[in-house]
Parts: sequence; structure tokens; C-alpha cells
Amino acid sequence: MADEALLDDRRQAVLEAAARYARETLENDASGHDWWHIYRVDRLAETIANAEGADVFVCRLAALLHDIADEKLCGDEAEGLRAVRRWLDAHRVDAASADHVIGIISSMSFKGGGRPPMRTLEGRVVQDADRLDAIGAVGIARVFAYTGAKGRPIHVPGIEARERMTKDEYRSTGGTAINHFYEKLLKLKDLMNTDYAKRLAEGRHRQLEQYLACFYEEWEGIR
Ligand code: ADP
Ligand code: NI
Repeated sequence: MADEALLDDRRQAVLEAAARYARETLENDASGHDWWHIYRVDRLAETIANAEGADVFVCRLAALLHDIADEKLCGDEAEGLRAVRRWLDAHRVDAASADHVIGIISSMSFKGGGRPPMRTLEGRVVQDADRLDAIGAVGIARVFAYTGAKGRPIHVPGIEARERMTKDEYRSTGGTAINHFYEKLLKLKDLMNTDYAKRLAEGRHRQLEQYLACFYEEWEGIR
């Protein structure tokens, strides 16, 4: 009993240190991976993990560290993963949990599509939490924040969404905010792994559809 309580204290301290590490690293990011994104994914990962019976410690640790290794932030994904590995070692996270966390964050990002499916329940939980943060009320805000940071327009009638994209096309070319709803956001509902996240995604997806319907009506002065 005492051992377990000790372990919980240690694990709690690791999670708090991971939150500080993420906050320091991502504080000034404008690519949609700011600290508050990490905060929300951590909260949601805990909720889904509890509902699905997943290992809450691994889910939260992976959620907190999942964007540290992002190539948009550190230029090189492999170097980012090595930094996370060093951090896990320095904080004496047990080998099984550390390997699990590295496995999750290395296969996490959307990158326009084709990544292999998550191998563990914990990976599926964190991926769901990350994807849910791209839809619903917060997801809508993130699209416009990202588009604004890139200096791109919110909507240009006649610029169609791109159906199939390479990773570079997904990152580079200057689509509009509204394009991005079709290129990514509206697809995320069907990519959820867990039952709990599927239910959440349905509500958030409906918000996207309602938002777009209002947007077009207002655009044309219909109401
Ligand atoms: P992740 O790396 O978490 O899979 P992205 O880097 O693709 O996600 O996106 C981070 C956030 O920025 C998301 O909320 C996403 O909707 C938004 N975003 C990414 N690319 C674009 C884009 N081309 N236009 C508008 N918003 C974007
Ligand atoms: Ni993320």
C-alpha cells in the first residue's frame, strides 16, 4: 500500500515536470501546438483513459510530451524524439512506460493521412484526444488562429479543398481556413479509435457542420 502511494507521488511529480517542460518548450508557438493545446489534450486524454480503462499515467505523459518532437517545432523529428528520450531517462521513468510513450508520440501526427494505426489502447486514447482538439468549438478557433498566423484568408469562393495531398502539400500551399475544414476537420470524426471519443466527436462534428452552414449564409447575406 505504502509502495503504491509512493509510486503515485513519484508519477504525479513526473507529470508535473512534463507539464513544465512542455510549457517552457511550446509557450510561444503559433503553429497550433501552443501550451494550451497540450493542456487540453492532457485533460481529455485523462477523461478518455478513465472511460476506456487505459493506463492513465502513460496516456497523460504521452499527451504532455506529444508535440515536443514535432518536426514543425524542432526541425527534425528524430532529434526531437531523442530529446524526449533523454528527458524520460533523466526523470527516471520506468523503461516500459518510457518505451511506450516514445512509441506513441513517434506514430502520432496526422501529416495529411497515411500513418499506421496505433498499436496500444493508450496510443489510441492519446491520438483521439489530440484529434478531438482539432474539432468542435476549440478546433474552429485553432483553424482561424493558424490561418491568421500564416497570413492566409478565411475564405475565398472558388478555391476548392484539395482531396488528396502529399505531406508537403498539406503543410505548404496556402489554402483558406474554410478549405481546411474539408481537408482535415470534417474527416476526423471517422478516424476516432475509442468508443468514448467517437461519442464526443459526433457532438463536435455537428458543431462544425452548423458553423459552416451559418458561415455560408452570412457570406451571401442570407441572414
Ligand atoms: P497535428 O500536428 O496535431 O496533427 P497539425 O499540425 O496539422 O496537427 O495542426 C495543428 C492545428 O492547426 C490544428 O488545429 C489544425 O486544424 C490547424 N491547422 C493545421 N494546418 C492548417 C491549415 N493548413 N490551415 C488551417 N489550420 C491548420
Ligand atoms: Ni497535438
